Amino acid sequence: MEDAIVLYPSPGRGHLISMVELGKLILRNHPSFSITILILSEPNTNTNSTAPNYVAGSTTKYITTVNSTTPSISFHHLPPISEVPLSTSSFVELSYSIPRFNNQNLHQILKTISQTSKPKAFIIDFFCDAAFEVATNLDIPTYYFFTSGANLPEPWKDRTSKEYQYSLNVAAHMAKSNGLLVNTFDLLETKPIKAISGGLCVPDRPTPPIFCIGPLISDSNQDVEDYECLNWLNSQPSRSVVFLCFGSLGLFSAKQLKEIAVGLENSGQRFLWVLRNPPPDNEKDPNLDELLPKGFLERTKEKGFVVKKWAPQVAVLRHDSVGGFVTHCGWNSVLEAVWCGVPMVGWPLYAEQRLNRVVLVEEVKLALGLNESEDGLVSAAELEKRVKELMDSEVGTEVRERVSGLRDEAVTAVKEGGSSHVALAKLAELWRQN
Ligand SMILES: *[C@@H]1O[C@H](CO)[C@@H](O)[C@H](O)[C@H]1NC(C)=O
Ligand SMILES: *[C@@H]1O[C@H](CO)[C@@H](O)[C@H](O)[C@H]1NC(C)=O
Repeated sequence: MEDAIVLYPSPGRGHLISMVELGKLILRNHPSFSITILILSEPNTNTNSTAPNYVAGSTTKYITTVNSTTPSISFHHLPPISEVPLSTSSFVELSYSIPRFNNQNLHQILKTISQTSKPKAFIIDFFCDAAFEVATNLDIPTYYFFTSGANLPEPWKDRTSKEYQYSLNVAAHMAKSNGLLVNTFDLLETKPIKAISGGLCVPDRPTPPIFCIGPLISDSNQDVEDYECLNWLNSQPSRSVVFLCFGSLGLFSAKQLKEIAVGLENSGQRFLWVLRNPPPDNEKDPNLDELLPKGFLERTKEKGFVVKKWAPQVAVLRHDSVGGFVTHCGWNSVLEAVWCGVPMVGWPLYAEQRLNRVVLVEEVKLALGLNESEDGLVSAAELEKRVKELMDSEVGTEVRERVSGLRDEAVTAVKEGGSSHVALAKLAELWRQN
C-alpha cells in the first residue's frame, strides 16, 4: 500500500497556500509519498447571516494550477455545509467552527483513504483543530502545521473570549500531537523555537518534536501573466521603489487611504501601492479619482504606480527596483520579504501581526515600526517619515543589511544539509518507520 500524507488547511489564502506548498516540498524531496489535500468550502448560509466570508481571498486559480502541474497531489473538496447554526461575526470563531461541522465528512474521507493506502501523517492547520480527535480515533498520526511564526497568536490576549477557549483546545491537542511543523527557519526565530523545544510550553509531558521546515514561498503566479506593474518596475532604478501591500484581509478607511497618499507624495520616494476599496465594498474595484487626493495620480505619475486590488507580491519583492516594503506583517509577507532581502516598515492590522511587528522591529530588527495615533490612524507625516527613513537613512541601511544577511541564511536553510532541509528529512524518516 502506498504511504499517504493528508493535509487539511484552513481555506484562507495565507493558510491554504503555505499548506499546499508544504505538500509540494514533501513530494519534491520524498516522492514516494502520495499527497491528498482536503479543501473546505464556503458554507451555504442563509441571506440574513451576519457571518463574514469564511474563505478569505480566492484560491481557485492557484489550486487549478497546482492540480494540473503536480499530478501526484490530489485535491479533495469537502461538501459545503448547509445549516450553519451560527450568528457569529467573528472570523476567528468561524474558522474554528466550520471544520467541526465537517467532522463527519472528514471521518468518512479518512476511512476511505485508509482502505487503499497507509496514512502516515495527517497534517492540520490549527484552525482545523476539531479534526484532531477524528484522526486520533482512527489511529492516524496527527501533526500541526503553523502557517505563522512560532509566536503566540492574537486570541490569547483576551481570556474571556470564545477564541481563547478554542486556542486552549488547540494548545492541549498540540501537546498530544505527533509533532509541530512551522513555516520558519531556525535562525529567524531562535528564541521562541528554543523555548518550545526546551519544554517551556508543555510543562507536564514531553513536548512533541518541532520541525522548522521554512521558509515556504509560493511564486506560482509569476509566469502566468504579464503584469503591468512589473513592466513599470522595469523602468525604475535599482532598489528605489517602496512597495505597499497589506494582504488578503488588509483594508483601510477612505480617510486612511488619503493619509497614505499624502505621506507618499511628500516623502518624494518612488512607490508601488496596492490599493483596495474601503469596506464594505472591498471586493469592488476602487475608484481612484474618488479615493485619492485631487491631482495625486497626475503629480506622482513619474514616481508612483497604483495597482488596484492585487499584485503578484513575490515577483514584485524579488524585482531589483524594489528597495522597501510597507507591510501588514502577515507571516507569509514577512517570509517573502526576508526571502527576497527587502527591508520593511511594519504596519500590523489583525491576527498575530502586532506581535510579529514587535519581533521584527525590536528583536530581529528587520523592520521599522509605524506609530499610530490613538484612533488607530497613521498620519501622512508619520508614513512620510518612516518611508524616508527606510529608503534613505543610516537606520534604513542597517535594516537593509540585516535583512540581506538573513536572506542568505534562509537560502542556506532550505538547501541540502541546511536546518530546514534536515528537519524535513527527519520527519520523512519518522513517517517511513511508522
Ligand atoms: C484535478 O485534475 C483532475 C484530473 O485532471 C480532475 O479530474 C479534477 O477535477 C481536478 N481537481 C481540481 C480541484 O481542480
Ligand atoms: C510614537 O509616538 C509617541 C507619542 O506621540 C512618541 O512619544 C514616540 O516617540 C513615537 N515613537 C517613535 C518611534 O517615533
